[in-house]
Amino acid sequence: MTSIHDRYVAANPRSRALYAEQTNYVPGGVTHFSRVFEPFPLFIERCTDSRKWDSDGHEYVDYWMGHGANLLGHGHPAVLEAAHAQLDRGLHAGGETELGLEWAKIICELVPCAEQVRFTASGGEATQLAIRLARALTGKEKILKFHFHFHGWHDSVMTSVDPPFDVPMSPGIPPAIAADVISIPFNDIGAVERTLDQHEALAAVILEPAGGHYGALPVNPAFLHELRLLTADRGIILVFDEVVTGFRYAPGGAQEYYGVTPDLTTLGKIMGGGFPVGALVGSRALMEPLAPRSDAQWNRFSLIRQHGTWNANPISAAAGIAALRLVATGEPIRHAAELAGQLRDDLNTLFAKHSLGAVAYGDVSIWKTYLGPPLKILAGDFSTAADDSQHLNAGWGAANRSLRQALLLNGIDVMQTGGFMSAAHSTADLDRTIGAFDRAIQDLKAEGLV
Ligand SMILES: Cc1ncc(COP(=O)(O)O)c(C=O)c1O
Repeated sequence: MTSIHDRYVAANPRSRALYAEQTNYVPGGVTHFSRVFEPFPLFIERCTDSRKWDSDGHEYVDYWMGHGANLLGHGHPAVLEAAHAQLDRGLHAGGETELGLEWAKIICELVPCAEQVRFTASGGEATQLAIRLARALTGKEKILKFHFHFHGWHDSVMTSVDPPFDVPMSPGIPPAIAADVISIPFNDIGAVERTLDQHEALAAVILEPAGGHYGALPVNPAFLHELRLLTADRGIILVFDEVVTGFRYAPGGAQEYYGVTPDLTTLGKIMGGGFPVGALVGSRALMEPLAPRSDAQWNRFSLIRQHGTWNANPISAAAGIAALRLVATGEPIRHAAELAGQLRDDLNTLFAKHSLGAVAYGDVSIWKTYLGPPLKILAGDFSTAADDSQHLNAGWGAANRSLRQALLLNGIDVMQTGGFMSAAHSTADLDRTIGAFDRAIQDLKAEGLV
C-alpha cells in the first residue's frame, strides 16, 4: 500500500506547487512558525462555519479556527454583517470612534479585572505593553515566566517556550534582556516562593492561566490561587495572558472560570471576531500611567508610551463588538465546550477499541491528544507535573506529522494533535472526526508508527 506521506503528496499537487513557488518569495515558504509542515503545508482557499477548503479543492473539518480566533466559527453572519457595514463607511480614518468606545465598554463588562482597556494590534503587542507597564509601575525590571508558556515573539517573552529552557528561543535576543526574564517550572508554588525570595527586582509574573500552550499542559487551580496571594503580598504585578483563554473559558475568560482575578490581563484573538486585535486591560489605578495629561513635562518623562496605527481600528472594532455580544450570552462557549467534551470521550473510546495507548484530554472547547500512558497531571495529581508536561508537549512524538497527514487525507485538519472546537461545529463534524481518526490509526499501525 502507498505510504501516508506519498498519498499526501499525490493528493495535493497545487499546494505543493504553490509552496515551491512561495519559498522564492517568503523565507522557508511559511508565514508563521506554527504553519511549518513537511513536506509542504496546504494552501487554504476559503472557509465557512466549521469547514475550510484547500487549493486542491479538498474540504476539511477545521480545528485551527484562525489560530483560536474564531470561537463563533468561520464567517459568522453577525460578524460579517458588522464588518461589511463598516467597510461601507470607509476603512480607517485614524481617530477615536464610537465603535472603539463600545468595544472597550463590553470588554470591561465581561472581564473581571478590566476597568480600562488599551487596544493593540496583536496579542504579542499586548504582552509587550503589560511588561512595560509593570516595570514602570514597580520601578523593577525582572519578569517571572513559566516553562512552555507562550506570550508572543518579542524579545522579553521569547525564552523558555521549548527546552532547553536556559537558551533563548531565537538568536538576536540580547543576553541582557534574556537575563531579566526568570523562568521556572509551572504549578510549583514552592519554586515561585523561592524565586521571589531570591530576586528583589521582580516587577511581574506573567502566565497562561489555564497552563502552557493554552491548557495543553494543565494548571493546578490551587496554584493560581496561591500565586495570587503571593504576588499580592509582595506587590508584584500578576499578569494573566488570556490571548487564547479570554472569551473562551468563560465570557470573562480563565479568570472568571477559575475565580482568580489578576492585576493585568492581555487579550486578543476572539475579541476581534477574526480580525487582527489585542488589548491590555486592568484597573483604572494600574492603567493610569497610560493616560496622557495636559502636562508636557509629565507626558515626556512619566507617560507610558504606546503607539500603533491599527489600535482599535474600526473594522476590527465592529467585528469584535458583534462577536463579543454573542460571547456575552454564554451560548457559543457552552455549545463548543459540550461538543469538545463529547469528542474527547468518543476519541478515548476509539483509542480503547484500537488498544492504542493514547489519550484525549482538555478543558472547555480545547481538545488535545497524546500518545502514551495515562498521566497523573490529567487526574489532578500535580506531583510529577514537570515530567508530565514534557510528555504532553511531545504529543504523538515521532508520529505527529504522519498523524496530521493521515487526518488531512481523511478530511480533518488538526492543530498539532488537537484543536479548537467552535460554536459552528456539529455532531456531524464529530462523526467525521472520529471516522478520520479511526482510519488514521489503522494507517499509522500499518506503517508501524504507533
Ligand atoms: C497565550 C498567547 N499569548 C500571546 C500570543 C500572541 O498573540 P498574537 O499572535 O496575536 O501576537 C499568543 C498567540 O498564539 C498566545 O497563544
